[in-house]
Amino acid sequence: MSADALLVAEDLHRSFGPTPALAGASLAVAAGEVVAVMGPSGSGKSTLLHCLAGIVPPDTGRVRYRGADLTAMSDAERSALRRREFGFVFQFGQLVPELTCLENVALPLRLERVARREAERRAREWLDRLEVVDVAGKRPGEVSGGQGQRVAVARALVTGPRVVFADEPTGALDSLNGERVMRLLAGAARETGAAVLLVTHETRVAAYSDREVVVRDGRTRSLEQVA
Ligand SMILES: Nc1ncnc2c1ncn2[C@@H]1O[C@H](COP(=O)(O)OP(=O)(O)O)[C@@H](O)[C@H]1O
Ligand SMILES: [Mg+2]
Repeated sequence: MSADALLVAEDLHRSFGPTPALAGASLAVAAGEVVAVMGPSGSGKSTLLHCLAGIVPPDTGRVRYRGADLTAMSDAERSALRRREFGFVFQFGQLVPELTCLENVALPLRLERVARREAERRAREWLDRLEVVDVAGKRPGEVSGGQGQRVAVARALVTGPRVVFADEPTGALDSLNGERVMRLLAGAARETGAAVLLVTHETRVAAYSDREVVVRDGRTRSLEQVA
């Protein structure tokens, strides 16, 4: 495993009751690298992402972020780390329905005590980069699925995270909108130097990623191993 890896998972095992979700998954992500995680439904992709992000603790195995053992941190340390260094995009944006799109994107900055004016200025900049500045004043219920996901990407990137976790961010979109979200996410990550861990079923993902990893039965494989 390379010494300069930003985020490293070593031999993760995790079961939910009798069901093994991870059974020896390992992965190393370098700074700025875009890694696509593929694999059939139920193979453990989301669990792997959640372990790497410190949301789900593995039963055994270790996760290290910039050398620090995530599994050994307190809950408070892990949530602070997630807020400051990680960004998240889910399949259904999970935007706060009562807030406008601009307020949604500004929210992570507000939680870090950035003043409202500054937070909203930066939020607007990110909405602009994701080509959805026109929906800034609308609530998530008033925008299309594709627009909502681009707002969600803006929200994930606004804090300048080192790692973006995206779990099937285009899963609920048609292929045209899916590609647009993918292109904008990958482009923004490259500009900011954020690493991206992207779970996806998009067939054209190779165009947006540096590397593809396949999860099968809770284990990680390289594309060559499953071919
Ligand atoms: N919170 C949970 N409770 C119970 N079973 C779970 C939970 N999360 C995942 N699983 C099970 O673990 C396995 C892997 O799930 P998951 O990581 O969501 O796979 P994927 O994202 O590849 O579809 C599946 O069998 C799933 O049903
Ligand atoms: Mg999943």
